[in-house]
Amino acid sequence: MRKHLLITGANRGIGLTFVKAYLSAGWQVTACCRSPNDADKLLSLKSVYQKLTIVKLDLDELDNISLDSLNLPEESFDLVIHNAGYYGPKGVSFGQVNLGEWRKVLEINTLGPLFITNLLYPKLNLTQGCTLAFISSKVGSMADNGSGGGYYYRSSKAALNAVVKSLSIDLATDGVKSVALHPGWVLTDMGGPNALIDTETSVQGMMQVIDKLSFEQSGSFIDYQGKTIPW
Ligand SMILES: NC(=O)c1ccc[n+]([C@@H]2O[C@H](COP(=O)([O-])OP(=O)(O)OC[C@H]3O[C@@H](n4cnc5c(N)ncnc54)[C@H](OP(=O)(O)O)[C@@H]3O)[C@@H](O)[C@H]2O)c1
Repeated sequence: MRKHLLITGANRGIGLTFVKAYLSAGWQVTACCRSPNDADKLLSLKSVYQKLTIVKLDLDELDNISLDSLNLPEESFDLVIHNAGYYGPKGVSFGQVNLGEWRKVLEINTLGPLFITNLLYPKLNLTQGCTLAFISSKVGSMADNGSGGGYYYRSSKAALNAVVKSLSIDLATDGVKSVALHPGWVLTDMGGPNALIDTETSVQGMMQVIDKLSFEQSGSFIDYQGKTIPW
């Protein structure tokens, strides 16, 4: 049977490249984005791949989202990739933190992924086994933080990593694996023009990590090259 992926932030950047790669590999894909009617690249893929469903999901509006409101396909999910992310304003130093901006980054990067995981739980393929992949960032690693700053984004990804670790324990008896992934420094709107790798290199690497993920690796923090990142 065809495997089924649900992915957030699917209209551009790393998310869009994941969509293309899993469709080419023969998967059914449910691609979530904020504005389906304006998602031109997804809409043109939809004209080629019948097994692509585009779903509206805005992580700024968690209070208004229910499983019914998402209007998802009937088939359960073998893989969920929580990819949508938001950096927030750049260059915010100590003393400049704006609570509203920080809340927004946390809402999208941390609260959203756990909230959506809760909603999707009845739709996970627990019979065949399911993987939850969370696109985190190395800058959420305490061990890697040698330069300070980045309060909003660092804290949101560090907290996401804590969520992933707990899910790996809480859902282990359901046969669900959870992993936090660092995509590398990637050429996207977020990564900027000085980034080191393209989205294809990042996504091919992460797909291999996801594909080979063992239960022993569930709950760990791994980069696109398969290297474990210290918390
Ligand atoms: N690029 C890097 O170097 C890098 C490094 C480490 C980690 N990451 C992580 O990788 C993931 C993908 O990043 P990217 O580089 O592909 O970034 P990107 O090009 O900026 O794309 C971000 C995606 O997230 C979506 N998004 C933003 N706010 C949202 C919201 N409120 N609700 C739903 N979706 C929302 C965007 O949708 P709209 O088009 O509607 O805004 C877009 O699809 C993120 O989690 C990011 O933190 C990236």
